[in-house]
Amino acid sequence: MAKHDLDPNYLDPNYEPVVNHTENTPFHQVLSARMQRRTLMKGSVGAALASVMGLGLAGCGSDSNDGTTSSNVSSTDIGFKAVPTSTANEAVVPEGYSTEAFLPWGAPITGSYPAYKPDGTNTGAEQEQQMGMHHDGVHFFPIDLKAGGNSSSEGLLVMNHEYINQGALHANGATYVNDMRPADEVRKEIAAHGVSVVHIKRDTNGKWDIVFGSPFNRRITGNTEMDIRGPVRGYSKLITKYSPDATETRGTLNNCAMGPTPWGTYLAAEENWHGYFANGDATQPREQTRHGVGSSSRYDWELADSAADQYVRFNVSTIGATAADDYRNEANTYGYMVEIDPFTPESKPQKRTALGRFGHEGVIFAPAKEGEPVVCYSGDDSRFEYIYKFVSSKPYYAATAGGYLLDEGTLYVARFNDDGSGDWLSLDLDDADFAAKVAAAEGTQVGDVQFDGFENQADVLLNTRLAADIAGATPMDRPEWGAVDPNSGQVYFTLTNNSRRTEEQVNAANPNANNRTGHIIRWSEEGNDHTATSFDWDIFVFAGEQGTETVVDDEVIVSLTDDNIFNSPDGLWFDYNGRLWIQTDGSDAAPYQNNMMLAANPETREIKRFFVGPVGCEVTGVVSTPDVKTMFVNIQHPDGNWPDSSDPRPRDATVIVTKDDGGVIGA
Ligand code: FEO
Ligand code: CA
Ligand code: CA
Repeated sequence: MAKHDLDPNYLDPNYEPVVNHTENTPFHQVLSARMQRRTLMKGSVGAALASVMGLGLAGCGSDSNDGTTSSNVSSTDIGFKAVPTSTANEAVVPEGYSTEAFLPWGAPITGSYPAYKPDGTNTGAEQEQQMGMHHDGVHFFPIDLKAGGNSSSEGLLVMNHEYINQGALHANGATYVNDMRPADEVRKEIAAHGVSVVHIKRDTNGKWDIVFGSPFNRRITGNTEMDIRGPVRGYSKLITKYSPDATETRGTLNNCAMGPTPWGTYLAAEENWHGYFANGDATQPREQTRHGVGSSSRYDWELADSAADQYVRFNVSTIGATAADDYRNEANTYGYMVEIDPFTPESKPQKRTALGRFGHEGVIFAPAKEGEPVVCYSGDDSRFEYIYKFVSSKPYYAATAGGYLLDEGTLYVARFNDDGSGDWLSLDLDDADFAAKVAAAEGTQVGDVQFDGFENQADVLLNTRLAADIAGATPMDRPEWGAVDPNSGQVYFTLTNNSRRTEEQVNAANPNANNRTGHIIRWSEEGNDHTATSFDWDIFVFAGEQGTETVVDDEVIVSLTDDNIFNSPDGLWFDYNGRLWIQTDGSDAAPYQNNMMLAANPETREIKRFFVGPVGCEVTGVVSTPDVKTMFVNIQHPDGNWPDSSDPRPRDATVIVTKDDGGVIGA
């Protein structure tokens, strides 16, 4: 198709159009920027580490080396001296810690292990065997996990590659010939997206390396064949030329954060997938408008000078006689959580549609309990979008658990009430309340959509945002990562920022108009039962400059200082001891400077800056080995010649952090 007027915002990789034009602010009340709330809730103590890690792990991550069990409270103390803000083009860590860049973009990890070429001339086929770009969510699976082990010296490091830097990827950036793009450039760009599975091992000197030739090493790209699973599988609105029965698709894109499942697999999120498709039709279906699909795409893949379907499919205009003759529905096969089994290299990734279709930032599982439903939480990172929870209809049993648990269940969306309570609103047509709201909305205008009903539950899930609008969910300030405290069971979510929120649009959970620096919200499910339909919430901390206060019952609980000013919290992770790690993706101007990672004690709300990344990057994705003695921190979109000062191209990379005395990180 011809190139249409490009929305210049698509050149901004973090561009997220405001596509929620509903006015879901039912609990609209102006509060001061300082949080006025009652006393904190205390959840019951009892870390379920085995569930957090996956299978059968116990006793790892303890601070105590003497065989006694350290208390949960002391194990979350923050023991290092905070590092200052930094403008240096390097990773900064506290005294007594060391860093090393690992697995940079282009490093060969599979196949014929083609060498990285610093002049940008690697081919598309070579990129399919190398680390992708723009490292994001990451998880370490101990190599012996399936046997009940918890190795901290060998495992599968699995990570997302969210998007690309065309200028660094190619010898001369993106090129066009007669308004078309060379197909191999497009192939290379598609291959630089997706997920990497890397078998890594630490030698006796403590040095980590790839296990070359391991059958586990694998690239999943924007072109890998995948199955559609769950209620949307087979739905007519997913029919494409590639899959006339609407059961399959190719590729996963814009994979931001992730979530390890309780059964040892990896869920990659599809976040800003809308930017990859172009629709030249005069009008678009609600499945696209509610997400911001445009008439041109971010990287112009639909303009590849090839008639191959793997490129043509990014043009989602109506071209053929029927949906089985073109790719008008291709975008409907994106927007899901994608399950990848890293321990089964030949396995086909599975798009789990029961978890909803939206701009999934990531997913976080509650600790799995034998005989009870599986519960996971996922945020939709766009301005004024929502936080969701999935509760499986089938019970979890460790011996038989698998991805099938994610195919049937109830999807809920969160309403944060002004009084500190909250409700999970069902999005299931079998739920009487939801069905009544849907019936009442029929024939009305819901935001930009003239709502004419849902055909079935598959249609609800395909249009999850619209369903949540109708349910009356609370529009949030861009929900990014979530994390579940292994000690208290409380659920935390970062709300990164929302500079578009007006005074009229504030609510108690998002109390700041023009919220430029973000905050972190948390809640306790009623009875500490993750399947509950109500909860109590509070705000853990407001990010911002020196002196930014978080106030509870008129008492200042946190006042930010030079040791912990930060802005735009994004990545969030509880380590296996219960320390909370906060990563930032904000303006890197003063006073914050380069993006960073901080550690927090969830009990005391003590927060200290632990890590500062190189120039221009966001710090996103963190995990450790089970003993919490090796930490993997991802650096995305550095813009200087980092990590190799002799290489003219910036390379996204994982930073390995260790403590020089071999101790627990953060203690
Ligand atoms: Fe990919 Fe919302 O960050
Ligand atoms: Ca993010
Ligand atoms: Ca972000």
